[in-house]
Amino acid sequence: MKTLSDHTIETPMGFIPKGLSTDEPAPVPELPEDFEEFDNFRDMMLLYSCAIREVNTKLENLDAELEMTGERNPIQYITHRVKTPASIMKKMKRKGIPLTFQNVWENLNDVAGVRVVCSYLEDIYELADVLLKQDDIRLIRMNDYIKNPKPSGYRSLHLVIETPVFLSEQKHMVRVEIQIRTIAMDFWASLEHQLRYKTDIEIPESIRRDLNDIADDMFSTDLKMSQINRRIQRISRVKHEAQELARKAQEAEKSGG
Ligand code: GTP
Ligand code: MG
Repeated sequence: MKTLSDHTIETPMGFIPKGLSTDEPAPVPELPEDFEEFDNFRDMMLLYSCAIREVNTKLENLDAELEMTGERNPIQYITHRVKTPASIMKKMKRKGIPLTFQNVWENLNDVAGVRVVCSYLEDIYELADVLLKQDDIRLIRMNDYIKNPKPSGYRSLHLVIETPVFLSEQKHMVRVEIQIRTIAMDFWASLEHQLRYKTDIEIPESIRRDLNDIADDMFSTDLKMSQINRRIQRISRVKHEAQELARKAQEAEKSGG
């Protein structure tokens, strides 16, 4: 028998690695020699963080390419997180699924999460489109909460994808939840989330309505900003075309005359 006192604790859901628990000091379980869960959990968390790196690189490369070809950066910033152990436990409990690494792997789509904040509405769809065209990315689920906002007013495009992670021995397809939104949507979602989690009161209906109205305002601001962006691009295109025509006319004059 070996003990994993440094690594595991006992919970109502079974033995789990310390990294996956709350800070509670734990009774030391005696584990059979062939107990595999600790290594499995550790490997799984490694895969999730590798997958986040893979997705980040893909997004940064696309942003760089679109900057070069389109003279703009569709991405303002990217954030990411691996779900905390406490949060994994809470979610598994809520779903009524025993906490084993296999169950987490099969049932949670958002242990690895990447949030991409874009400049304009159209950037969201363009980015999602070019990302999903990559032949090593597998789309598992797409929720368009922009076309169909949540009852709260929440808007974002959610993709659950699988991306390959290559380790020394094997290739693993790893799930990542990607939330793509504009700065305005991110502003709303971040503050609304904070407001909801800061308090233990039930948010009154009148405040919910106000928050929903603000989400609508944010969306109409997004639409206006998109329109302004398109107008400026059009003016800039016309200017460049005019300059090009003038240059050609000058060349023709020189060679002809
Ligand atoms: P979960 O079990 O909650 O993950 O539900 P799900 O798997 O169906 O995912 P869903 O598509 O509902 O998106 C969940 C995530 O979207 C949350 O973790 C939040 O980051 C974000 N989200 C969804 N609804 C809201 C909302 O009303 N307000 C805010 N601020 N964020 C939201
Ligand atoms: Mg989720």
